[in-house]
Amino acid sequence: MNRPRCDQTPAWRELGRCYEQTGRAFDLRQAFAAEPDRFDRFSVNAPQVFADLSRNRIDAATTQALLALAQECRLELHRDAMFAGEAINTTEGRAVLHTLLRCPRPAAGDAVAPALQPLLSEVHNTLDAMLAFAETLRADPAITDVVNIGIGGSDLGPQMAVLALDAFADSGKRLHFVSNVDGHELAACLKRLQPRSTVFLIASKTFTTVETMTNAHSARRWFEAEGGAGLDIGRHFIGLTTNLAAAGAFGIRTTFGFWDWVGGRYSVWSAIGLPLAVAIGAAGFRDFLAGAHAMDEHFRSAPLAGNLPVRLGLLDVWYRNFLGFTSRSIAPYHSALRRFPAYLQQLEMESNGKRVDLAGQPLPYGTSPVLWGEPGTNGQHAYFQMLHQGTDVVPVEFIAVVKARHDLPGHQPMLLANALAQAQALMQGKADSGGQKDFPGNRPSTFLLLGDLTPASLGALIALHEHRVFVSGSLWGINSFDQWGVELGKVLAKDIEPRLASGDTDGLDGSSAGLLRRIRAVF
Ligand code: F6P
Repeated sequence: MNRPRCDQTPAWRELGRCYEQTGRAFDLRQAFAAEPDRFDRFSVNAPQVFADLSRNRIDAATTQALLALAQECRLELHRDAMFAGEAINTTEGRAVLHTLLRCPRPAAGDAVAPALQPLLSEVHNTLDAMLAFAETLRADPAITDVVNIGIGGSDLGPQMAVLALDAFADSGKRLHFVSNVDGHELAACLKRLQPRSTVFLIASKTFTTVETMTNAHSARRWFEAEGGAGLDIGRHFIGLTTNLAAAGAFGIRTTFGFWDWVGGRYSVWSAIGLPLAVAIGAAGFRDFLAGAHAMDEHFRSAPLAGNLPVRLGLLDVWYRNFLGFTSRSIAPYHSALRRFPAYLQQLEMESNGKRVDLAGQPLPYGTSPVLWGEPGTNGQHAYFQMLHQGTDVVPVEFIAVVKARHDLPGHQPMLLANALAQAQALMQGKADSGGQKDFPGNRPSTFLLLGDLTPASLGALIALHEHRVFVSGSLWGINSFDQWGVELGKVLAKDIEPRLASGDTDGLDGSSAGLLRRIRAVF
């Protein structure tokens, strides 16, 4: 598919003019004074998510130029190619079809291309089997603990979702997540377990990831040493993977598979979501998928101007490439979303942290911003100082949920008031006596509002971010679906590990050699 590079389009030049004319000196306070209906004009409604974009440094002309950029870069064509199953992950020669995982069965899913119908049947057969297993596990009184061993997309998505939907968890099972190869993590978890009452989910798309395999083998050794030898290992170790052969070789009998067209960071909708299904049950998991599907349909069919993933992705390009903002802070005002920033880090930075185009040529413009954040109000008492008065401008993304799922009086209005107050303070600022007590204001933010945090709204919120990352990655002309940047460190770790025992420093750089000697002196 021939798509022009974003910086070679007329719209890009127009955006440069917008920046010179209004963007560089844009003042949000003046914008609100000049446009009484700014809130209405810059808010977008999407399934389950209302977005207020009015506190961003954009005006009508910039918005038009950004929408023109999307058209000139043939965003819609690229999006349709993804939904149609074309191999848009060009460096790996793969389709990108995580959207198929949340598509209803063929009868209702007439939007699905005929060529994808057999795949969709496979998806549903696997989903049915996985959810039936989740229900069996939930109903099994002998099992009290379920441990997910996985890393990256095989950890961040399910862990974030299980925490986020804790209010819906009704299985009575304790869920644990072990990801790090640092043995402290697994050891601390195992201390609280009995083999007889534990099920381990070995979650790895490739079933080769060294952290996961190391933890899986250690868990099995512990299982056997602690009295599990007489038990049926096949009942206590379950595989979630595309590599059925490797899972079989590990001794696993029950495996829920998925497909190479599901990227690790897009896999929470697949068998990798089993921990969530155990926590909230089959019906809850289906609601989660349905929420995401509604967002898919919005992304696929809403006109660009009212298309929330498109508007957010375009804003990300504007901020990164024209305003020069290199980071975005995520502030979920709901403690159950406390792992959402970590989840987004992988989604956005592993997808769009790329420096070359599809042909491998270096890009002359910036791509993924740095994402970071903590739940509100905790962040306010930590780094919000910098957001209000630091030298850098960092756009903040507030995520707030109207309904609370507790009955403690006073907390929810206080929480929501804090989110609103922070967004207002960032924008309005405050003139004081000058110096330390002045707030410059004009600091941009986006406000995403959910009515309630439910399986469906969480599904929609995640899908919104997946598509937004697609939009900015598409405009930047990069492959958002590979992750070659993680490979070099893996290879070097393999080389260095035996040197810790042997002391061989040949070929290491001076710093690594020095550190290795110091480590060996203490070991
Ligand atoms: O190393 C990066 C990565 O490949 C991620 O993209 C992926 O989510 C993670 O490792 C885990 O991979 P796997 O599920 O194959 O163990």
